[in-house]
Amino acid sequence: MIGVYCNRTKIGESWFRALAEEFGEDQVDLYPFTYPDAIEFIACWKAPHRLLQTLPNLKVIQSLGAGVDHIFDRDNAVEQAMIARIIDPQLSVDMYEFALATILADMKRLTFYRDQQKEKQWKERRYSTIPNKVVSILGLGVIGSIVAQKLSVLGFQVKGWSRSEKKIDGVECFSGEADLTHMLSQTDYLLNLLPLTNDTRGFLNQSLFEKMKKGSYLINLGRGPHLVDEDLLTALDQEHLSGACLDVFHEEPLDKEHSFWEHPKVFMTPHIASITNIETARKQVFENIRRMREGRELLNVVSMERGY
Ligand code: NAP
Ligand code: GLV
Repeated sequence: MIGVYCNRTKIGESWFRALAEEFGEDQVDLYPFTYPDAIEFIACWKAPHRLLQTLPNLKVIQSLGAGVDHIFDRDNAVEQAMIARIIDPQLSVDMYEFALATILADMKRLTFYRDQQKEKQWKERRYSTIPNKVVSILGLGVIGSIVAQKLSVLGFQVKGWSRSEKKIDGVECFSGEADLTHMLSQTDYLLNLLPLTNDTRGFLNQSLFEKMKKGSYLINLGRGPHLVDEDLLTALDQEHLSGACLDVFHEEPLDKEHSFWEHPKVFMTPHIASITNIETARKQVFENIRRMREGRELLNVVSMERGY
């Protein structure tokens, strides 16, 4: 039996329909589960705490997105189960388009003019141009490496940092602490695409901001807990950073009382930078169900040791 849970009900229903069409309705159980004891494979996104532990015969936890922190974080990892995630070129392309839109909006001052229009003001601001700008990417994995490559093709000066060393055409790649300091000191736009793990939680903090060039701009597309919110507010208020685009938050939706809502230098989006497209991602999930049933190796398996 295949279980389906998604915190966004409509998306869960769409996955249920796709899976029922492929495997038969009697093979798929949409949360709240009717047959928890029979579920061997669960396709899930942000399942409630400990839900997975109530499925005694679970063999595979398939994340419905690229990230798997929602599985590790929620005390949900079940010892006997493997974890797989979505790897889909469409996710990388969507992320690239979002990153580009954000960078250009800042370079061309579009959010400033949007605010100015509301006040019926007519003031010009200097703008910048692509070849003069350095974009650095934290995390050169499946998504970060494509975003880096595509921005470099457009003419940006692109740098990237990851745990292991990488070689990517047109991208200056770094790894290690000393390299990170050097990269940050030259960066205009810092794009976070790290996975959330014990090593990366709180990574975007005061000490990192201090290493960034004065006037640089932060784009957090990874996860909310990568960022120490108070440290960002201080860096913005002290005018060390010129602005931030935040797509992900500690708590989603963000608490209405949070200072980010009203902050003039913060641009927020509701975790929509790149959303799994069921049409392009469904085949790998179907394939993993078949592989599990036939006892074959799964696609896109996550390392339990590294946590990503
Ligand atoms: P991935 O393929 O697993 O890549 C992760 C990258 O981060 C790798 O390059 C890895 O280095 C690096 N890394 C991990 N831990 C590190 C550390 N401690 N120090 C330095 N580098 C480290 O992940 P992905 O598919 O590209 O996705 C990245 C993240 O994007 C996801 O986990 C998710 O949080 C986020 N995301 C957000 C959205 C959104 O809509 N906002 C959408 C999709 C994904 P190595 O290559 O050396 O292992
Ligand atoms: C979205 O945040 C994802 O991890 O796919």
